[in-house]
Formats: sequence, C-alpha cells, structure tokens
Amino acid sequence: MFLEKSLVLLPLLVLVLLLLDWIQPSLGKESRAMKFQRQHMDSGSSPSSNTTYCNEMMRRRNLTQGRCKPVNTFVHEPLEDVQAVCFQGNVNCKNGQTNCYRSSSSMHITDCRLTGSSKYPNCAYRTTRKERHIIVACEGNPYVPVHFDASVEDST
Ligand SMILES: *[C@@H]1O[C@H](CO)[C@@H](O)[C@H](O)[C@H]1NC(C)=O
Ligand SMILES: *[C@@H]1O[C@H](CO)[C@@H](O)[C@H](O)[C@H]1NC(C)=O
Repeated sequence: MFLEKSLVLLPLLVLVLLLLDWIQPSLGKESRAMKFQRQHMDSGSSPSSNTTYCNEMMRRRNLTQGRCKPVNTFVHEPLEDVQAVCFQGNVNCKNGQTNCYRSSSSMHITDCRLTGSSKYPNCAYRTTRKERHIIVACEGNPYVPVHFDASVEDST
C-alpha cells in the first residue's frame, strides 16, 4: 500500500519541483532585460534640460544603493524603438563581444556622470542631454537589449 502510494506521489513531487524551478526566476530575480529597462529606459519624460534630473533618477532607479554608479545613460524613446535596435546595425561591443547593435537613427538620451566632489551616500550627478545613436548588447529569446554599451555621434 505504502509503496503503491509513493509510486504515484514521486512523479508528482518531481513535477512540482520542476515547476517551482521554472517559475521562481520570474518571481524573484530581475531578468537582465528588466534590469536594462530599470537602468536605461525613461520613455515618458520629455527631453527638456533639467539639472536635477540625474540626481533624482539615479536614486529612484536604485543606482545609488551601496555605491554611486559612476556613469549611466537614460533613453527617452518608446521601448519598442529601443528594442528594435537589436535588429539594426551589428557592431562589436567594447568588450569584444559581437552581439552589439547601433541604432539607425539618433535618439534622445541623458548622460548622468558622477561629479568629482560627490561622496556616497550623497551621490551628485551632472545631467547632459544629447541626441546620439545608441549601441546596446542584445540577448535571449525574444532578442532584447540587456546592456547599454555606448552612444555615438552621427558618423559621416
Ligand atoms: C526634473 O526631473 C525629475 C526626474 O524626472 C522630475 O521629478 C522633476 O519634476 C523635474 N523638474 C523639472 C523642473 O522639470
Ligand atoms: C528599489 O529598491 C527597493 C527596495 O529594495 C524596491 O522596493 C523598489 O521596487 C526598487 N525600485 C526599482 C525601480 O527597482
């Protein structure tokens, strides 16, 4: 009797464990694609100059926890337009990997750079608005941006 029951329960237990293993990452851990959006996407805001933008946004997006992230770029374009860059011009990443892509059009971005005098936990940033082609690294299925590599001026 006991043996019979455990023969039924064992596959069930295995199934539950497999399901948990599959579900858990989507519950707990932030995916690289989600992290890219937290760190680099700000579609809503208009590209007006606002000197406190970086101080506020770096804090709001948790980029000043534990340390002040030294440089970071926010992109003010619709998410679809930034995701589409994964299917535009293939270029080498700064680290030599080959999965980077350069946007075919220039985009509204804000560069945030930590000021020299800034001391954690008081992270102070210089805010610079730009229009640049962006270079992102893409991964996965769907193939989406997971890393902001660089921004470049119009090459002639
Ligand atoms: C500047 O940007 C921050 C962050 O988006 C926003 O909260 C704030 O209202 C902006 N200030 C002005 C004057 O637009
Ligand atoms: C920042 O971190 C806090 C606490 O760890 C969390 O509640 C919040 O959702 C995070 N914000 C973002 C934009 O990820």
